[in-house]
Amino acid sequence: MRILLLFGLVAVALGDVARFDGEKVFRLRPTIDEHVNLIKDLAKTIEVDFWKPESPELVTIDIDVDIHVPAKYLDMVYTYLQQGDIEYEVLIEDLQEAVEAQADDGPTPRAHSYTKYNSWDKVQSWIASIASSNANLISKQVIGNTYEGRPMTVLKLGKKSSSTKPAIFLDCGIHAREWISPAFCQWFVKEALSTYGSDSQMTSLLNQMDVFVLPVFNIDGYDYTHKSNRMWRKTRSRKSGSSCTGADPNRNFDAGWCSMGASSNPCSDTFCGYTPESEIEVKNVADFIRRNKSIIKAYLTIHSYSQLLLFPYSYTYALAADHSELMEVAEGASSALRSLYGTRYTSGPGATTIYPAAGGSDDWAYDLGVKYSYTFELRDTGRYGFLLPESQIKPTCEETMLAVKYIAAYVQKNL
Ligand code: ARG
Ligand code: ZN
Repeated sequence: MRILLLFGLVAVALGDVARFDGEKVFRLRPTIDEHVNLIKDLAKTIEVDFWKPESPELVTIDIDVDIHVPAKYLDMVYTYLQQGDIEYEVLIEDLQEAVEAQADDGPTPRAHSYTKYNSWDKVQSWIASIASSNANLISKQVIGNTYEGRPMTVLKLGKKSSSTKPAIFLDCGIHAREWISPAFCQWFVKEALSTYGSDSQMTSLLNQMDVFVLPVFNIDGYDYTHKSNRMWRKTRSRKSGSSCTGADPNRNFDAGWCSMGASSNPCSDTFCGYTPESEIEVKNVADFIRRNKSIIKAYLTIHSYSQLLLFPYSYTYALAADHSELMEVAEGASSALRSLYGTRYTSGPGATTIYPAAGGSDDWAYDLGVKYSYTFELRDTGRYGFLLPESQIKPTCEETMLAVKYIAAYVQKNL
């Protein structure tokens, strides 16, 4: 018996893999309030998987709205769009084809690769081997386990020192389906190791500072996107009394928690959780950063997609006390990134640049006292969205390295 399934709202039957045959991704352009209301209405009537913004509550006029629609609702969606006179374009004609096209051709390699999307099992063994073969520059520590019991390992990169060094914290994979993000953390570790001693900036950085890297934040979700449902976003926690799984880790931090741009509905993709830090992965990271608060000078978190470099605040429209400096550094980092392949990024505070969304890790770290707090939204702008082809891993990581190194150099200069 085969059960075809959709994303999150329908539970994935055990052992079965969700398929997306005939499903489409649309880009809608609401220009008047009526369009916005229609889109929200649509979201209440049928199962719509919001790609950008991540939930219907975040839809406003004059923003692009990317939605993934199951095949059985396509007729209805076309009717809505035509009757409401909403401008739209089809970004992805057949999502199943796009899922299959994402991986490079050729046999699936057994080994870990920096230019492929590695499964959690591969990332896990990569973590073990990279740490043991570079013991002079890397140490690792488990900061806790995920809901399903997988160990969350932080790699500490830096020259060994008897005194405590200032540090940068970098995490990837808060959201499960944003596969380019964990790929970047792996790339960063590789680059740090292979250019230490030859690249003067990397050498100086790792001599003076440590970089804590959490390669995959939401491991359970990441594993689930590989095995069951490519479009999963949240954690995989369960609570008795609710049939829906998981919370949005980037709505679960204690920063204006669940006040805006988040949902208190456990079935929503932007569910803020039952309490701040209810998600064990969030608590583990928050505990680690709190413990190391005096040495952590920058917090960088990698998401996709949209090509943005965001900084606080997202839980309020108020400007951060360090707004001008954060903006200046973001602009510098964006131009460094653009210098390689011409990729254009937009920078600014989350609330005004995209939408207000409370409970994010960047705002939480900033309010804790980590001044240089940035959220990257990597490639692309929607042509492939979460299904960025593997052929773009290398250029995306190379250009992102320039931005991250720009920020690191600035932080180092201003210790
Ligand atoms: N797309 C990201 C998200 O919705 C943006 C995060 C920006 N920061 C924030 N605190 N909302 O999680
Ligand atoms: Zn994300």
